[in-house]
Amino acid sequence: MIFTVAVDGPAAAGKGTISKALADRFGLAHLDTGLLYRAVGAKGGDPVAAAQGLTPADLARDDLRSLAAGEAASKVAAIPAVRAALTQFQRDFARREGGAVLDGRDIGTVICPEAAVKLFVTASAEVRAHRRWLEVGGDAAQVLAEVVARDERDMGRADAPLKPAADAVMVDTSELSIDEAVAQAAALVAARLG
Ligand code: CDP
Ligand code: CDP
Repeated sequence: MIFTVAVDGPAAAGKGTISKALADRFGLAHLDTGLLYRAVGAKGGDPVAAAQGLTPADLARDDLRSLAAGEAASKVAAIPAVRAALTQFQRDFARREGGAVLDGRDIGTVICPEAAVKLFVTASAEVRAHRRWLEVGGDAAQVLAEVVARDERDMGRADAPLKPAADAVMVDTSELSIDEAVAQAAALVAARLG
């Protein structure tokens, strides 16, 4: 069975949390595509060469979740040759036998436009920045500024900008608990699985 769930949306909206829960519940493989861009940004040097030569060890670095790694990721993610180098791996993952859920920015629009379910997970910038601040700490105003700046860069780039696919279902998690957000997403997937 090839069954792809595409989960896109801005930073700290809950994409990863929802995607992992869907993967567990429905027995799907999960790929956090943001990790690929974070690893390219963290590797330094020529980003295109980094993307072409990405290794499992690059993806296992323990500094990939920081704000700085997120910012570096969104800078290299605006380079078309970096995106191109990462496309086939993501497409193959999306089409794997047994089904998959991928979360990122362009899964429903570019990587897998034929996905069976497309979710656009969002929340207000204030809620998202607060969630990220709970994870990383530091100066809350600075976390908000970095989240907003990164979203603007992701929405404003020419290649594969962050935007909902025409057929994506919006899941606004601003006022939802994790359980409520997962339940909404799971109901949409269950409806498609029949
Ligand atoms: O993957 P993405 O950056 O979109 O977000 P995430 O890592 O899944 O979620 C960011 C943080 O928000 C995590 O600490 C989640 O536990 C939390 N979260 C939440 O508090 N309420 C939700 N409805 C969803 C996520
Ligand atoms: O977890 P969070 O939403 O904060 O970020 P992420 O999903 O790890 O993505 C980090 C950065 O990688 C994003 O800000 C995007 O610039 C880039 N990205 C992308 O361009 N396309 C994707 N499919 C996934 C991430």
